[in-house]
Amino acid sequence: MASEDEATARPIVSVAVVGAGTMGRQIAALIAASGRQVRLTDAVRAVLETAPERIREELRTLPQLPRYAHHAFRLEPPADHEGLLARIGVAASAAEAVAGADLVIEAVREDLETKRTLFAELDRLAPAAILATNSSSIPSSLLASAVADPGRLLNTHFFAPVWSRPMVELMGSGETTSVTMDRVEAFARSLGIVVAKVRGDSKGFIINRVWRAVKREALRVVDEGHADPEDVDRLWMIFFGTPSGPFGIMDMVGLDVVADIETSYQRVATDPADRPSAALHAKLAEGALGEKTGRGFYSHPEPEYLQPGWLGGGVEVE
Ligand SMILES: NC(=O)c1ccc[n+]([C@@H]2O[C@H](COP(=O)([O-])OP(=O)(O)OC[C@H]3O[C@@H](n4cnc5c(N)ncnc54)[C@H](O)[C@@H]3O)[C@@H](O)[C@H]2O)c1
Repeated sequence: MASEDEATARPIVSVAVVGAGTMGRQIAALIAASGRQVRLTDAVRAVLETAPERIREELRTLPQLPRYAHHAFRLEPPADHEGLLARIGVAASAAEAVAGADLVIEAVREDLETKRTLFAELDRLAPAAILATNSSSIPSSLLASAVADPGRLLNTHFFAPVWSRPMVELMGSGETTSVTMDRVEAFARSLGIVVAKVRGDSKGFIINRVWRAVKREALRVVDEGHADPEDVDRLWMIFFGTPSGPFGIMDMVGLDVVADIETSYQRVATDPADRPSAALHAKLAEGALGEKTGRGFYSHPEPEYLQPGWLGGGVEVE
């Protein structure tokens, strides 16, 4: 058996991604961009069969910066898209995908029981692999009892689009070994992405937790009648120099998705004032879900905050 030092030094070479949805496809492409072979699987055959074509399309479209992102730190996939695709093997079953893998990244739907069942299966199918979940809200500590050795379990929280948000948050289960952490950290750094290690157990990790606080207060200021969404965004955009504000970003995320995330925080909130937002739920009741329905807090695809003069709120700026 390898000593702990040897195990630490052993790089992660072979990777499997389970779940070929929005995140699984992008994570697989990011890993293949590093020159590694990666195996991708999904429980739904049609999803799996169309995955290579969807990845091909996403390699073309996703690296373009969304208009709300204008930072300099981003990744370009290699120009040889076909070479990248050739490194992504489509596996018909989880067993085939994870055989011999050093690391398995789970990116299936956000449901605790689905994930626990899958991790119990992965535990059996890949007894030597590090097991990672890409969950946005389920800490790996809740999956620990599904596996025999929680020392090899952790959260690896990637972001979409991976090319313009090239970063990952790593969070242990409380029982994750330092060898597991170190190996995954070295692997993630080798992808050319920013790695942030979360200490302890934090719901929302780092950035989603900060973003949730911003959403909660932005919605509350409107619910309490102190301001309308446009003024919140206008002040935010001028104050922070960003190309959109909290309400503009919520529209891009989708107001139904925002509401689900709010509910997951409100379920564990200790502050009685942390309750569903009237402004948000009024939009849901109208079927105004943001960009995806053409209407949310703004009209889309040309939201008001992108119109000339909007930022000045009536004041002419030379
Ligand atoms: N979408 C995002 O922007 C985002 C960002 C960060 C984290 N996440 C997290 O990543 C995970 C995946 O999210 P997504 O947006 O890619 O979801 P998605 O719905 O696009 O894809 C999930 C895929 O998992 C497959 N699946 C479900 N059960 C399975 C099983 N037992 N075995 C194999 N495949 C199975 C489904 O067929 C589907 O194709 C979730 O935990 C989510 O919280 C999502």
